[in-house]
Amino acid sequence: MPKAILAIVIYRLWPKYGNFDTFLGLVRQYPTHLNLSYSEQVVMSDKPIALVTGGAQGIGLACAKALADDGARIVLADINAHEVQAAATEMGNDTVGIACDMGDTDQITAMYDEIEAKHGPVSILVNNAGIALPGDFLDTSIEQFRQVIDVNLVGVFASLQRAAKGMVSHKIEGAIVNMSSINAVVAIPTIAAYCSSKGGVMQLTKSASLALAPHNIRVNAVGPGSIDTAMLASVNANPEAMKMVMSRTPMQRIGSAKEVGDTVAFLASKKASYITGETIYIDGGRLGMNYTC
Ligand SMILES: NC(=O)c1ccc[n+]([C@@H]2O[C@H](COP(=O)([O-])OP(=O)(O)OC[C@H]3O[C@@H](n4cnc5c(N)ncnc54)[C@H](O)[C@@H]3O)[C@@H](O)[C@H]2O)c1
Repeated sequence: MPKAILAIVIYRLWPKYGNFDTFLGLVRQYPTHLNLSYSEQVVMSDKPIALVTGGAQGIGLACAKALADDGARIVLADINAHEVQAAATEMGNDTVGIACDMGDTDQITAMYDEIEAKHGPVSILVNNAGIALPGDFLDTSIEQFRQVIDVNLVGVFASLQRAAKGMVSHKIEGAIVNMSSINAVVAIPTIAAYCSSKGGVMQLTKSASLALAPHNIRVNAVGPGSIDTAMLASVNANPEAMKMVMSRTPMQRIGSAKEVGDTVAFLASKKASYITGETIYIDGGRLGMNYTC
């Protein structure tokens, strides 16, 4: 596309993407920096970008579908390169799939740089990627503990901070939703690192909400109870374990990934415009029972 036409296209979208410097920068850098096809430039124009980490399956994919229904263009990031591409293809609507290990801060930085260069700044972030690595408390190694914290807490911080920097520099009044858990509040002895990380996410959400409120960037979290995904496969396959989960679930059923996705989409939407720093628990009433395990 000739630079003059590109300039007109970007100028039309300029209010959405930031200040005049950004506009000039985009025009100047084309086409060496923005090496995009025509269709990508057009798609870049009309939808806010929503990045969902751990988006290849389960709760992350459900969040992505709910946000797409609300009009966002989706970028899925996942450690599983094959699955994330398959999920992006399945979603259609120019969904992008990117391989990224959310436990590796260099990869996180590189991913944001790539998204901004190719598709534009992130307006909505769902920090969903998470692992549990269950095991006996006394046998848990430092390496195992650190692995969980690296993905579930350090990665969440790195992603949140980098997304917020992009929002601030592009003057985007964005929304960030972190994936916590009821285990931020109630503990299970075999997943100490997981419980620690999710408690950390709850407090990180509050701290970040205070830091970013002056920029009109909202930061919230959701804390699911027992949700029907691969993470719950061992419970689903074990009637005794399921009976125990039901004994502490007032609504007497497992939650669906869609129910979490819909809550995340609500928190990311203008309907939640005065909510920040909160964690909403999606647990069928479980926390109200005050059972720990
Ligand atoms: N399922 C539940 O009952 C439940 C309850 C509370 C909280 N959660 C939280 O919800 C989130 C999603 O869980 P889920 O149930 O959908 O699990 P899942 O295992 O079905 O999906 C997790 C996704 O994250 C990806 N992932 C794992 N490690 C990654 C990494 N280092 N970098 C990037 N991607 C990575 C996986 O490839 C997978 O696609 C997690 O943060 C989890 O802690 C789940």
